[in-house]
Amino acid sequence: MLPEMTEAEFALFVQYFTRKVGITIPEHKRAGFGRKVAGRMEGLGFSSYVSYYRFMKSQEGADELDFLVNHVTIDMSRFFRGERQLAHFGDSVVPELASKLRGTRKLRVWSAGCARGQEPYTVAMILAERAREVFTWDFKILATDIDSDSLSAAAAGLYGPETAGEVPPELLDRYFSRPRNAGNKPYRIRAILRNRVSFRKLNLLETPYPIRGPFSVILCRNVMIYFDTATRKIIVSEFHRLLADGGFLLLGSTESLFGVDDRFILSGQAIYRKAPGR
Ligand SMILES: C[S@@+](CC[C@H](N)C(=O)[O-])C[C@H]1O[C@@H](n2cnc3c(N)ncnc32)[C@H](O)[C@@H]1O
Repeated sequence: MLPEMTEAEFALFVQYFTRKVGITIPEHKRAGFGRKVAGRMEGLGFSSYVSYYRFMKSQEGADELDFLVNHVTIDMSRFFRGERQLAHFGDSVVPELASKLRGTRKLRVWSAGCARGQEPYTVAMILAERAREVFTWDFKILATDIDSDSLSAAAAGLYGPETAGEVPPELLDRYFSRPRNAGNKPYRIRAILRNRVSFRKLNLLETPYPIRGPFSVILCRNVMIYFDTATRKIIVSEFHRLLADGGFLLLGSTESLFGVDDRFILSGQAIYRKAPGR
């Protein structure tokens, strides 16, 4: 068994993580993080944290950062997270978009930091319920995350029994199937929604993003909490570049653009709008 990771060893990993992926790991997570790293090291035959750290930074160990990111990032999410915000989105934003875009019949949405797909599929359900016509349009949701394990799970669209407590019963019937012998993942998002969402790996710290806009809606909820203000400024200015004039940016309920970017107008419930001409 490896000894517990020391403060100095932890600091090495944290600095590297912060620089490469923007994620900071608080001190109280040191023991848990150390155990995850130790598990990995044992599998690879390393006996000291520093030698593993050096390997991770070398060309040969280039995949290690990915591996650790996939195992330490907090990928917690759920369907219909941020209920009040989503109600406002369904009541005001969706009808406005539906009438504004009826001419071009094109709608692009981006869920940045989509975890296991609950967020983009929730948005797809809201659109299906509140503006079914968009499903006859050129309508696509791009969903990105840095965590490739989350992305594969999201693309498979399989979810556990907790889903029944997150999704209203009528929507559960309408938008989820119950495959036979599904084991611990009894619910599957139906193809009508799955077909609209494409999942791609994207690190929000690597700008400019290789993505084509403009989007009418960008969601980046409960992701930027991990980043410092300077990083948030860079990310939000990319969102600004990729949003259509008057487009909407949805943040997590505890997040704001105050001190980050003043080219947006708050329209309530952590929903911001790109001010025209700014
Ligand atoms: C707490 S989850 C939020 C999921 C969803 N947006 C929600 O609100 O429920 C945070 C997500 O951000 C992703 N993430 C963290 N750092 C990232 C980065 N540098 N680039 C892209 N995604 C990142 C994590 O992998 C994780 O899936």
